[in-house]
Parts: sequence; structure tokens; C-alpha cells
Amino acid sequence: MEYENGKPILEIEHLSVSFLRYKKGFGQDFLPVISGLDVDVSEGEIVAVVGASGSGKSLLAHAVLGLLPSNAVWNGEISFRGERLDGKRLEKLRGKKIALVPQNVESLDPLMKVGRQVRGVSGRGGRQRELLRQYGLSEAEGYYPFECSGGMCRRILLATALMEDPDLIIADEPTPGLDPALAKKAMKDFRSFADKGKGVLLITHDIELALEVADRITVFYAGTMVEEALAADFASETLLRHPYTRALWRAMPRNGFQPIAGNQPYAGEISEGCVFRPRCAHAVPACQEAIPLNKVRGGRVRCVRHLPEGLA
Ligand SMILES: Nc1ncnc2c1ncn2[C@@H]1O[C@H](COP(=O)(O)OP(=O)(O)O)[C@@H](O)[C@H]1O
Ligand code: SF4
Ligand SMILES: [Mg+2]
Repeated sequence: MEYENGKPILEIEHLSVSFLRYKKGFGQDFLPVISGLDVDVSEGEIVAVVGASGSGKSLLAHAVLGLLPSNAVWNGEISFRGERLDGKRLEKLRGKKIALVPQNVESLDPLMKVGRQVRGVSGRGGRQRELLRQYGLSEAEGYYPFECSGGMCRRILLATALMEDPDLIIADEPTPGLDPALAKKAMKDFRSFADKGKGVLLITHDIELALEVADRITVFYAGTMVEEALAADFASETLLRHPYTRALWRAMPRNGFQPIAGNQPYAGEISEGCVFRPRCAHAVPACQEAIPLNKVRGGRVRCVRHLPEGLA
């Protein structure tokens, strides 16, 4: 990391998201889908959010950007450069100071040519041409999205996010469909963006890719944050704190590809206590209680094996 001791850009505390659910008959209730998310990104940092599909990664991005569907409610605190975000302030920041690289390439406007798509609202032709050049899209300036490959569409989304010179990029699974060389280039671009004193929240299910560039890794499981570790902690299983993170480590190709038995539960099936309990070899009766996130060895973990003295 070239840019050290930066000020916080994004601070998320105790974020939860619930969806209004209509039940059989006339009742309705709120189904909690994510809870207990504490994520922050400072100047000069790439923070990766990793976790299986359905663990709540995109909902986190959508909550920060004010893009949750109308039947969702969120609670908690989201601050940008020290200021609490409400709906109005979010409107001002979105696309300018905070840019999203969306998960879905279909979010490109099908009726807008690549050049205009990247130019966006600011219309600065010089910067747009430079970005098109950097991303190998100069030839594609006059194409419509349907004329572009999946990899080109990903590069258009990346170039569009960089157009307004934001302070923070939230990249939601930015690499599927890119060949390995282009995926590595995208990671290098995020690294040089952060090294200018900016921040990146990199959402991915690909830990190996995240480890190439991220400073810190936040691990989600079944809608909850179970661990935050330094990327350097992934050098050895013993440096990791949570049994799920250790299982993810063992499932990485470089560590022998050992699969994790069982499945992540759906939001409606989650009971009180540790969300990983049904799959954990270390579970004890205390794991059925609500478990706080605790600071341990420069990271944070939600597990009874790491409770502060006196609580265990
Ligand atoms: N509009 C919605 N209505 C109800 N549940 C939803 C909605 N969107 C997402 N979810 C649920 O929230 C959970 C997390 O989703 P998501 O954030 O998209 O996961 P990820 O990005 O990690 O794959 C999933 O279990 C999903 O079923
Ligand atoms: S809290 Fe208990 S069940 Fe959950 S990961 Fe820790 S030991 Fe396993
Ligand atoms: Mg997602």
C-alpha cells in the first residue's frame, strides 16, 4: 500500500436490511436478510467483501448507494467522509463521489452507444477518450452494447465508473466474463486508483483475485459479517479467526481445494445465534446466543472462540 494512514471515506456501522413479506392470509412482516455489517474504507485502501452467492454482498452495495428496492428497509449508520448519509445526500454523491461498477452488465443502456455511455453526465470528451483508450475501447466508441462482448461490457462499466473521478468505487463482482489478463488489469487499475488516496470496496466471490490487490478482507456468511482480516492473514490458516474463513481458505485451489460440507442457510431459515453453527465442528451450546463482533489480532471476528475475557 503506497498511501498510508488515510482518513476514512466510507464507514458503515450495524447495517441491516429487511424485506417486507406478505404472508398467506392477510399478514405481513419484515424478513431480516442482512444484519450486523460493519465495513469501512479509508483513503488508499481496497477493502474486499467476499462470501458465497446470497450472502448479502450486493445488498450492502445497494444500501450504500440508495438503490434498495422499495419493499426494503435499512437500519444502521452509513457515513461518507464523516457525514451521515440520508436519501438526499446520497442522491448528490451517487455517480459523482461514489461510483458503482454494477454486477449486471445489463445495466448498460441498450440504446446508448459506448462513447456516450462512458461520457455520462459530465460530457468531458478529453477524459472520455482517454478512458476509452486505456480500456481498449476506442474502436468500440460507436457500438451499441449488444455489439460488444461480455468482457467489453465489463470494461465499459469500469470506464464509466472512473469518468467522474470519484472518491470511492464500489465494484460489485467486476470480473466475471473477463479473461484472466483483463481481470488482472482491472485489479491493477483499482490498486492504482486507491494508491492516489481514493477508496475501493471490491465485492467478489473470488478470494484469490481479491487477495492480489486488497488490503483487508471482510467475510460475509448468510447475511452477516463473520470476520475482517488483513489480506496478509490469508498467508496461513492459523492466522485466520473464524471457522468459516478457515474453511474458505482450505477451499482455495492453492490450499488443496477442500470443499466445505453443507449449505449456507436462506434468510428465512436463520435462527438465533451463530449463522455458521450447523456446519461448524467447534459448535458448543454458547453458539446459540447472539454473538458480538470482537477485535482480535488486528482484525474482527464473530465467534465464541474469540470472546473477550469474562464473556466466554
Ligand atoms: N428484492 C429482494 N427481495 C427479497 N429478498 C432479496 C431481494 N434481493 C435480495 N434478497 C435476498 O437477500 C440475500 C442476499 O442477496 P444479495 O445481496 O444479492 O447476495 P450476494 O450479492 O452476496 O449474492 C439473498 O438471500 C436474497 O435472496
Ligand atoms: S460461534 Fe460457535 S458455531 Fe459459530 S463459528 Fe464459532 S464455534 Fe462455530
Ligand atoms: Mg451479488
